[in-house]
Amino acid sequence: MPLHCDRRVFVVLWLISSLCACGRVTDSANGEAAYSAHTPADTERATQIPVPPPPMGWSSWNSLGEAVNHDVIKAQADGLAALNARIASGHRYEYVNIDEGWWRSGQRDASGSFIVDTAQWPGGMQAIARYIHGKGLKAGIYIDAGPRGCGKRADGMHFVGSDPAHYDHDFLQFAQWGFDFVKVDFCGGAAKDYDPEKTYRSIAQSINRAYSQTGHRLTFSLCDWGTIPTDKSFPDYNEGPWAWGAGVGTMWRTTRDITPDFDSVVFNLAGNYHPEGQHTGYYNDPDMMVAGMRMSALHDQTHISLWAISGAPMILGNDLAKPLPPDTARLLTNPEVLAIDQDALGLQGLLVAQSGRLQVWAKLLAGTGQRAVVLFNNSAKAAPMTVTWDSLGLVPSSQATVRDVWAGKDLGRFATSYAAPGVPARGVVMLTISGADPSPVTWQPGSLAGGAVYARCPACASGKRVTGLGTVNFSGMASGARAGFIEIGYVNDSTRTAFAQLTMNGQRPTMLAFPPTRSDGSMGAITVYVPFQAGPNTLALSNADASTPAPDIGYVATVGGPVPLSQAVSTARRAEN
Ligand code: GLA
Repeated sequence: MPLHCDRRVFVVLWLISSLCACGRVTDSANGEAAYSAHTPADTERATQIPVPPPPMGWSSWNSLGEAVNHDVIKAQADGLAALNARIASGHRYEYVNIDEGWWRSGQRDASGSFIVDTAQWPGGMQAIARYIHGKGLKAGIYIDAGPRGCGKRADGMHFVGSDPAHYDHDFLQFAQWGFDFVKVDFCGGAAKDYDPEKTYRSIAQSINRAYSQTGHRLTFSLCDWGTIPTDKSFPDYNEGPWAWGAGVGTMWRTTRDITPDFDSVVFNLAGNYHPEGQHTGYYNDPDMMVAGMRMSALHDQTHISLWAISGAPMILGNDLAKPLPPDTARLLTNPEVLAIDQDALGLQGLLVAQSGRLQVWAKLLAGTGQRAVVLFNNSAKAAPMTVTWDSLGLVPSSQATVRDVWAGKDLGRFATSYAAPGVPARGVVMLTISGADPSPVTWQPGSLAGGAVYARCPACASGKRVTGLGTVNFSGMASGARAGFIEIGYVNDSTRTAFAQLTMNGQRPTMLAFPPTRSDGSMGAITVYVPFQAGPNTLALSNADASTPAPDIGYVATVGGPVPLSQAVSTARRAEN
C-alpha cells in the first residue's frame, strides 16, 4: 500500500530514532534484536488480507412464518438463483435459510433423532439441502437453544428446540444432512434462564465437534436479540453478544425482530450500533431484511443502504417465489451497494455527524483513501446534507473524488467536503469517496509475555515478528480524536485461520481472526476498529488458548478512518425516538 505524502517526515523520524538507538535492546536470551519500546516508526504496511464477508442470502421467516415445506423452499431457492442472475458482477446471495416451523412434530425417536414429517419434507431435510446445493447455493436451518421454541404450532403448543443434552447430536445431524448454516434462537433458552454466553459457547463447541466428524462447517448465527436499553427482560441486558460473540459465531442479533415498516428499520439500525464488536469476519446482525415486503421503494432503498453501510448480513426476507416488482429487483441487485456491504475489511460504518434527524454514516473500505457514505435524512422534509473529509478521517484540505452509488454517476472532485443539494425525506444519498489518507503511525511491540519471543522474518520489512503467543503488548499508543482504526501486521503461513484476543486498556478481550497470509512468509494485515481512550493506551494481543493456532505479530499501525461522533450510540438512539 503506498504511503501518503508525509512519508519523508516519517523516514526522518525513523532515522533519528535509529541513531538514538532509543527503544531498542538486544534480547540475548533468544539472540534476536528486540524492541523494548513502542516508538512510532516508519516501517512496513502489509497488504490487507480479506476477511470473510457478512453472510448474504434469504430466510423464510419474514414472509412465510412457519409455512415451510420442501416445495415452498424449493421455489424460494429458484427465486434466489434467479435474483443472483440479475447481478451484473461481484457479490451474490448465497444462503437459503429455513427458519422455525420445519420440525413440526417436536418429537424425537428412541435414539434422540428428530422425527421429521415426511409429508412436509419428502426425502427428509437432506433432500432440500441437496436441492439448494444443486442451485449453487448454501442451505441453512434453525433451532432454539432451549427446549421451548418461540412460535406456536397450529394446535397452540409451542414449537420445541434443543437443549444441552442434545447439542452434540443436533448440530452433528444438521451437518450430516448437509446444512451449511444454523440460526440458534433463544426463546427456550430464556425460558430456562440459560446464560446466553455460556450456552452459545457450548453450542459452538458442538458445532466444532460436528465439523471434526463430518468436515462440514456450519456458519453459526446467534439470536438472543442483544441488549435493548429500554427492555430489562432481555437476557443480555447489560452486555450483549457484541461483547463476546466474535469467534463464538459468525453473526449475532443485536435487536428485537424487525417488521416491514420504516420505524422498525431505523430502530434496528440504532440498536445494532456496536462498531467495536464487528471485525475480521464477525458481524452485528440488525435482523433479516424487509425490503420488497410492504414499504415504499424509497424506504426500501434507505433500508438497503443502511444495512450496507453497517456491513450487516444481508439476509433477505421477501417472497422470492412471486414475480419481483422492478424496483425491488433493481434495489437488491446493485453491485456497488453489495460491494460496500461485503467490503474486504468487514467493518461497521460509524455515525460521523448528526444534526437533528439528519445523520451522516461512513464506512472505512479496503484500499487507500476509500470511504462509503450514507447521507440519511430521517426527517419529514427533503434537506441538503454535507459530508466533510475531516469527518471521514481523510486529509481535510485534500481533493477527493465522489461517486453517487445509486445514481451510478461520478460527481467529480471536491475539496474538503461534498454537499448534496437535496436528500429526500426518509431517504438517502449513498456515496463512495476516494481521497487522501493521513500517514499511518506504526507501533512496534513492547513487552512480551507468556512465552512470546522474537523470530527472524526475512520477508518482513522490519526483519522480525513476535512468535509463540503468549502476549505481546503495545503500550503508550497515542490517542486523540482521530484514533480508532488500527491495522495489525501479522504472519499466518498455515492454511487455517488463526486467532488472537485483543485487549484494550485491560477491558474485556475480543476475539480476532487472522486468515492465512502468503506462503512466502511475508506479512499480511487486518484492520479493526478499537475505541481509544484519551491519553496513552495499552493494547495487548494474546493467544486464545494453548490449543488454538495464533498468528505471529509484526506491528500495529494507527490508520485513518471515519471519526465517530462521541456519544454516537445514544445520539443514534435519540434520533429514532
Ligand atoms: C424469534 C427470532 C425470529 C424468528 C422467530 C421464529 O422471534 O428472533 O427471527 O426466528 O423467533 O419464531
